Amino acid sequence: MEEIERVALEEIEKAQTPEELREIEVRYLGKKGKITEQLKGLGALEPEKRRERGMALNRAKQVITEALERQSKRIVELQALREARIDPTLPGIRPQVGHIHPLSLVLEEVMDIFHRLGYYVMDFYEVETEYYNFEALNIPKDHPARDLQDTFYLEDGFLLRTHTSAGQTRAMRLLPPPFRAVFPGKVFRFEATDASHEHTFHQLEGLMIDRHVSVAHLLSAMMTLLTAIFGKDVGVRLRPGYFPFVEPGFELDIHCSVCEGRGCSVCKHSGFVEFLGCGLVHPNVIRAGGLDPREWEGWAFGIGLSRLVMMRYKVSDIRWLLSGDLRFVRQF
Ligand code: DAH
Repeated sequence: MEEIERVALEEIEKAQTPEELREIEVRYLGKKGKITEQLKGLGALEPEKRRERGMALNRAKQVITEALERQSKRIVELQALREARIDPTLPGIRPQVGHIHPLSLVLEEVMDIFHRLGYYVMDFYEVETEYYNFEALNIPKDHPARDLQDTFYLEDGFLLRTHTSAGQTRAMRLLPPPFRAVFPGKVFRFEATDASHEHTFHQLEGLMIDRHVSVAHLLSAMMTLLTAIFGKDVGVRLRPGYFPFVEPGFELDIHCSVCEGRGCSVCKHSGFVEFLGCGLVHPNVIRAGGLDPREWEGWAFGIGLSRLVMMRYKVSDIRWLLSGDLRFVRQF
């Protein structure tokens, strides 16, 4: 009896299809099955023996029935797995891990430098008023910078700030002089895009207000900054530049590090890229900031932060920065 049971269980476990199982069931429990035959033979035995054997047979029948059910379930489950094309032996899918965007990397590093130099770090509005973006900065109504082509105008006199300079008079109204502050952020221009122009990019504004401020102070501060930012002396080119909110005003270009000055799409084949605008704060702006220009002077600068990122990592097209393309971001 035990031998029949053992062999039956072994066969059941090996069965791969419902058909095989049915065949086993018939062989043991069917009308002419091994167990059934034995049950039939019970009648010929003595009552005592009959009871004993009957119990053993019923037990074997139960064990085999249960094993058949179990295996039948397993076969159905395996079949379902196969149909769902799930391969349980495949390795799992590793979750993607994000990391800091190159713009944030450079911003954090630069903020750290300014922090150590004693600057406040401030955060102003991306949606600004015409007043702070233009008027307060001595940009009159007919100035070309106000041209519809350059500015994204919103309703009710609001606009998307075209430069971080919009924070200058806000800073003056917030901080008691003398002070120095930087305010980084996103700015917006309504213009055609190409390798070096983007409608949304990042700038970093710096403002310092004190009693006696000269161009010499300004230039020495700019050189300190550049050395700190690039970690070495960089080739620069200083040109007079016109910005209504500074007088005198300058444009400072740096050697293009993407092509090492040989000429590329970033520097428009000149070997230099505009890096920052700067100058001594115009008395009208000091006044708009609520200070007396006879008492307070200042210098200001605006750095193209996106440019800085491009120089640092040799990115040849500004449009990569905000493209959201993971192939780009993953390289940093
Ligand atoms: N706001 C100017 C721009 O977006 C850059 C600039 C020039 C900022 C001169 C300044 C400055 O603070 O003094 O082009």
